[in-house]
Amino acid sequence: MTAITATDTKIKELVKPGRLLINGEWVDASSSATLETINPATGEVITTFAEAGADDVDKAVASARTAFEGKWSAIPAARRGMYLAKLADLIIENGERLALLETSDNGKPYFESSKIDIPFAANVFRYFSGWADKLSGQTIPSRSDAFMFTRREPLGVVAQIIPWNLPLVMCAWKLAPALAAGNTVVLKPAEQTPLTALALGELIAEAGFPPGVVNILTGRGEVTGAALVKHKGIDKISFTGSVPVGKEIMKSAADNLTKLTLELGGKSPNIIFADANMKAALRGAINGIFYGKGELCCAGSRLLVQRECYDTVVTALQEQVAKLQVGDPFDKKTRIGALISKEQMNRVLEYVEIGKKEGAKLVAGGERVTFDNEFANGCFVAPTIFADVDNSMRIAQEEIFGPALAVIPFDSEEEALSIANDSSFGLAAAIWTSDIKRAHRLAAGLKAGTVWVNTVNMFDASLPFGGFKNSGFGRDLGEDALDGYLQTKSVWVDLTAD
Ligand code: NAI
Ligand code: MG
Repeated sequence: MTAITATDTKIKELVKPGRLLINGEWVDASSSATLETINPATGEVITTFAEAGADDVDKAVASARTAFEGKWSAIPAARRGMYLAKLADLIIENGERLALLETSDNGKPYFESSKIDIPFAANVFRYFSGWADKLSGQTIPSRSDAFMFTRREPLGVVAQIIPWNLPLVMCAWKLAPALAAGNTVVLKPAEQTPLTALALGELIAEAGFPPGVVNILTGRGEVTGAALVKHKGIDKISFTGSVPVGKEIMKSAADNLTKLTLELGGKSPNIIFADANMKAALRGAINGIFYGKGELCCAGSRLLVQRECYDTVVTALQEQVAKLQVGDPFDKKTRIGALISKEQMNRVLEYVEIGKKEGAKLVAGGERVTFDNEFANGCFVAPTIFADVDNSMRIAQEEIFGPALAVIPFDSEEEALSIANDSSFGLAAAIWTSDIKRAHRLAAGLKAGTVWVNTVNMFDASLPFGGFKNSGFGRDLGEDALDGYLQTKSVWVDLTAD
């Protein structure tokens, strides 16, 4: 299988270039502005797509408002769930096409798109489909002179802004709970990866969702995204992306007191104790950082290793990364595809220079991988490992968002915990140990939204995901995700006799 290009009929069938989904119609941007999306493995333009401006945002928000006040609120909750379940089925039916688009647009290995991302996106829609008719309030029996109860009501129109690292999965994390809870949505995919969101738009129509329930606006963050988050007609913003943009969005949200959920990435510690099952821990160390090219918000980018096994682990990692194939994302043997863009590749390579200057020991990778074939312009970086890193170094504190690992030695459990928690981020952490007491002590002590024990980067639609500290607030996935899309109304009915 080879990468798809602009001339490929599969793309032509799937994507209507230059189109936004507003009120169930595919329309051009009112300014006619378009952008190009690039295959980062080859540098080729895949297709063009519309860039929504403030006028288009107005129209999409109005359409979402009309759908919310009208049809979407009137239909039985179980029917909302049926649409979501139907969408899950359609994602699976269209899995191959979606995986092709995802890998072409993002550069990730095809096995990741086809075996993990697409089925997971479907699972998330299926999980939340079951919640739609189970969002009950409470009766509160604390007074005899009143009947008091709560209702859990949707917020209204939700703006959702997502990144490029897991394009379809992020659509599912955001859309599924918002829709199950009865909201309508204006979704903005990342400008680097609009294709699967647009394909999903087609499937949303096919699943039978009424027009206007989901509107999709493509475009750059500073244009489309900024207009969306400033809009007064938005009741809630849910954002996944970088810390600086999260802060900007929080400022815009403050002006309109728009409710907000932020998921902002991390610098997650992956902690190996000498008593761990070493084979599993090494696999976890590699997958923790190199899965998804390291462009994962929860990437295990800091590897804390107990001194007793430190040298063995570093040597074993060097041997194992040498075997990881970098290159053509459609080659079955490839484990590390192309980074999302030249910009991101250069950012990773700059961090390599920073790490060297800081005195960390580069023991693997650290350079661009080049080819003299159709991948000559691809954004490939060799799996990179820095050993002897001090946790105060920039490469241990700042999110690199690429295939670069910082290995840090420690002596005691206390020291491991203190290093792990010495970070402005708190998204996730993993522990490798055979001591169950230690595992529980650390699961309690780690300041992170998710703690994995003897595994890493595992997700389930039913398990909440989100950050402590600067990694954000609010949760995606699980029952908690619904809380971010509902508000509680208290009703007091007087029962005193006349
Ligand atoms: P970004 O935060 O700029 O982009 C994420 C989304 O926000 C995109 O849809 C973008 O169009 C939108 N956006 C950008 N500026 C906006 C604005 N002013 N108003 C509204 N929406 C806006 O992230 P970027 O530049 O693509 O990546 C830079 C770094 O951010 C990465 O190297 C990584 O460290 C971090 N990042 C973290 C992610 C995570 O999953 N937490 C995902 C993507 C990036
Ligand atoms: Mg692209």
